[in-house]
Amino acid sequence: MAKGLALVTGASGGLGLEFARLLAAGDWDLALVARSQDKLEALAAVLRAEFGVKADVVVMDLGVVDAADNLFARVPACDVLVNNAGFATNAPFASIPEDRVTEELLLDVVTLTKLTRKYLPGMIERKSGRVLNVASTAAFLPGPFMAAYYAAKAYVLSFSEAVWEELRGTGVTVTCLCPGATETGFQSRANIDTAPIFNALPVANAKDVAEAGYRAMMRGKRLEIPGFLSKAMIASLRMAPRGLALSLSRKLAEQ
Ligand SMILES: NC(=O)c1ccc[n+]([C@@H]2O[C@H](COP(=O)([O-])OP(=O)(O)OC[C@H]3O[C@@H](n4cnc5c(N)ncnc54)[C@H](OP(=O)(O)O)[C@@H]3O)[C@@H](O)[C@H]2O)c1
Repeated sequence: MAKGLALVTGASGGLGLEFARLLAAGDWDLALVARSQDKLEALAAVLRAEFGVKADVVVMDLGVVDAADNLFARVPACDVLVNNAGFATNAPFASIPEDRVTEELLLDVVTLTKLTRKYLPGMIERKSGRVLNVASTAAFLPGPFMAAYYAAKAYVLSFSEAVWEELRGTGVTVTCLCPGATETGFQSRANIDTAPIFNALPVANAKDVAEAGYRAMMRGKRLEIPGFLSKAMIASLRMAPRGLALSLSRKLAEQ
C-alpha cells in the first residue's frame, strides 16, 4: 500500500529522475511530469517493476502561462510536490531571445509558485504534506551572464522560506534545496559546459544531491545546501561584500 501520491516536475532526467527513484523506493506512487514522453514512459516502467508503485506519466510543457492550471486539472491532489523542473541560459542578458527569458521565468518562477499555491490547501486540510522547491546556490548572489536565472532562484529561496514559516504547526512543510554545480543535463541546456563553474570546481553527483534534498524534505527542513563545499561557499558569501561576490560570480560564469 503506497503512502500517497508524489508529483515530480522535470522527472525525465537529472535530479528529477533521482527524486522519482527515491520516492518510489520510499513507497510513494508517482506522477512524472516533463516534455520527453519516451524518457518518462521508460522511467515509469522501471519504477513500477522495481518498486511495485503506480507511476503515471504526464507529458506537459511547464514553461507556458497556463501550465500549472493544466497540470492541476490532470492531477488534482498530491501528498508530495517536487518542483524541480528548471533551466538556465548562460549568455549576456541583452543577447538572450526574449521568448527564452519568458520561458525561463515561467518555468523557474511562475509554474513553481502556482503549483505550490494549488496543492497546498489540500495538504493543509489533510494536515500532511511535503513540498520540495529546487533553487540553487545561485539563489544567494547575483549572477552576471545568468542574470535572470540567479534572480529566479533568489525568488524561489525567498518564497519557499517565507511559506515554510507560514506553515508552522500545520503538518505541511516547504523545503528549499540549493544545489551547487551538479552533473546533469543542465550544463548543456544552459550552454555553460566550458565555464569555470563546471570546470574549475568539483561537480556533485545527481544521486547524492537528490538524496540530500529528499531527506531534508521528509524531515520538513526549511533549507538544504548539499555538500560541504557549497555550504562553506555560501557561508563565506554571506559575509563577503556584495561587490566581491559579484565579481567572483562573474568569473565563474563568464565563457
Ligand atoms: N545541475 C546543476 O548544476 C544545478 C544546480 C543548481 C540547481 N539546479 C536546478 O535543478 C533543477 C533540475 O535540473 P537538472 O540539473 O536536473 O537539469 P536537467 O538534467 O536539464 O533536467 C531538467 C528537467 O526539467 C525538465 N524541463 C525543462 N524544461 C521544461 C519544460 N518547459 N516543461 C517541463 N519540463 C521541463 C526536463 O525535461 P524535458 O526536457 O523532458 O521537458 C528535465 O526533466 C532545476 O531547477 C535546476 O535549475 C541544477
